[in-house]
Amino acid sequence: MYVCICHGFTVEDIQFQIRAGNSSVNKIGRSCGAGGDCGACVKKIQAILKTTVIDDGKLAMRIAG
Ligand code: FES
Repeated sequence: MYVCICHGFTVEDIQFQIRAGNSSVNKIGRSCGAGGDCGACVKKIQAILKTTVIDDGKLAMRIAG
């Protein structure tokens, strides 16, 4: 399922970004551009941040800064 239509990113793409250390919407945007154009996907990216478990078992949002 596409999350960011402007850049063609799926849920899995955003999860990849999160697991690569991009633990906020701004960091994801700087890394790949998702959320940086029309902004329609920002709430979806925030929801993925809240539910994505990173490698050590912590939720990404808990380490967001
Ligand atoms: S849908 Fe993601 S920036 Fe437009």
